[in-house]
Amino acid sequence: MKRVTFRDSKDFYTHATQLVESVAVAAIHKRGVFFIALSGGATPLPLYERLAHSTTIDWGNTHVFWSDERSVPPGNPQGSYAATRSALLDHVPVPPSQIHRIPGELTPIDGAEAYEIEIRDSLGADGRLDLVLLGMGKDGHTASLFPHHQALSEARRWLLPVHVSAEPPWRITMTLPLIRYARHVAFLIAGPEKVEILRRLDNGEDLPAARVQPTDGKLTWLVSEEPQETNS
Ligand code: 6PG
Repeated sequence: MKRVTFRDSKDFYTHATQLVESVAVAAIHKRGVFFIALSGGATPLPLYERLAHSTTIDWGNTHVFWSDERSVPPGNPQGSYAATRSALLDHVPVPPSQIHRIPGELTPIDGAEAYEIEIRDSLGADGRLDLVLLGMGKDGHTASLFPHHQALSEARRWLLPVHVSAEPPWRITMTLPLIRYARHVAFLIAGPEKVEILRRLDNGEDLPAARVQPTDGKLTWLVSEEPQETNS
């Protein structure tokens, strides 16, 4: 595991941008395709805005997924999809068929089943995402895997419907088996409000984010003590 802490949020987002670009270039060079799973939340939005101007990533050979989604229609601002579209996807030429939106408009059970079929078809026999971007909440949750939730013990399915103690409560989330099988997982943690949960993590508390231990992929933690970038 590699952990880099930045005092300056601009450096944090610059490094995060370079990480995504380098993984994308390597994936497309080796396999002709780049599979990335985006995180929801506020922290990654300045990164997505920077990636929207990237001249390094071959968007035509990129497939975009999400690590989780609220069970809301795609236009709902509570969902991760709407924010990602305006920050990134409306500005880069990813073919629409390669934007794999989690169908939050379906029931959580149907949405999770449909997305599992779609992601398994997309990833093919290899079944590996090249990069999963994740955040961490102040309670240590990541994606929509919350502390003490039974979804944390799922060993087979790649997507689950979950009812959680956050608004909105119904979500669809990637499970640990899928996330752990990624070639690279990168956590983006920014702001003074995450200092305490990072301390708990460092003290070995069994938090959902701590359970993200890639099978044989890379794990990177990028931490910024400053709040997320304002003028990206
Ligand atoms: C989501 C994310 C969630 C997020 C954390 C941190 O859909 O909200 O999957 O796990 O990464 O809650 O969010 P912030 O980056 O806004 O602190």
